[in-house]
Amino acid sequence: MVAQRLDGRACAAEVEKDLISRISACKKNGIEPHLAVVIVGDDPASHVYVKSKVKACERLGIKSTHVELPASSTEDNVREIIASLNEQSGLHGILVQSPLPSHMDEEALTDLIHPEKDVDGFHPQNLGRLVQGRMDGMLPCTPSGVIRMLSWAGIETEGKNAVILGRSRIVGMPQSLLLGSKGVDSTVTVAHSRSKEISKLCASADIIIAAVGRPEMVTEDWVKEGAVVVDVGINRVDDSSRERGWRLAGDVHPDVANKASWLSPVPGGVGPMTIAMLMENTVRAAEQSNLL
Ligand code: GUN
Repeated sequence: MVAQRLDGRACAAEVEKDLISRISACKKNGIEPHLAVVIVGDDPASHVYVKSKVKACERLGIKSTHVELPASSTEDNVREIIASLNEQSGLHGILVQSPLPSHMDEEALTDLIHPEKDVDGFHPQNLGRLVQGRMDGMLPCTPSGVIRMLSWAGIETEGKNAVILGRSRIVGMPQSLLLGSKGVDSTVTVAHSRSKEISKLCASADIIIAAVGRPEMVTEDWVKEGAVVVDVGINRVDDSSRERGWRLAGDVHPDVANKASWLSPVPGGVGPMTIAMLMENTVRAAEQSNLL
């Protein structure tokens, strides 16, 4: 079997197209959707992601504010920025790019973002709603992007055995809740660094979501014939054959395409979906601000 490409770029383009009319309706009502992205430090990958988010705003006509702070900033500096962004009435979404420098308490800072502006869906109030099965709040962008992409491709999830590799706050944990939620209806296993015989867990999976950050960890022999494989990983690996000396690799080995029925590429799979869902959350926050 040769896997079909789970084309996140194409799906994201459709999501963005649908947002255009919602954005113009907001503007007609005197509301310009506005996202603030805060980045602290100089992690090169994070800067690339933040630039992509700002570029998506430009593409769609969403106003963006890009706040860059040096790695030497204090947690109090970030608190002050969040407090000031919370106060701005014409600003609808706040995202603090993860990871923050290690001297900062990322979760404590996330707690400070006003839940209605929490376009990442990481605030305990939004995650709590997700745990309750209420899907109408801000949902975390990467996991909701994965679900949207599966649905867009017509991939059945009901009753399927899904194995998620990784239990992170940003992807694995919320992904497990979304995949197991009513209407998606998969049977979910979350594997993590203490799990035993991960390859065997994967071998019985109809759907594998790899989100561990280990280049090409999921190999062909781990995967059942016909499984759906979603690669959330995006890793830089040394590659002396490339002029720049590195290449991007997912968490899934490319040979998995010989076994899987669907495989999401890296880049061009989950990444564009994360951004599209962020744009959707920002537009939703702007629309809801009109109802207050
Ligand atoms: N770092 C990697 N992914 C994300 C994300 O979805 N949101 C934020 N804030 N930081 C990230």
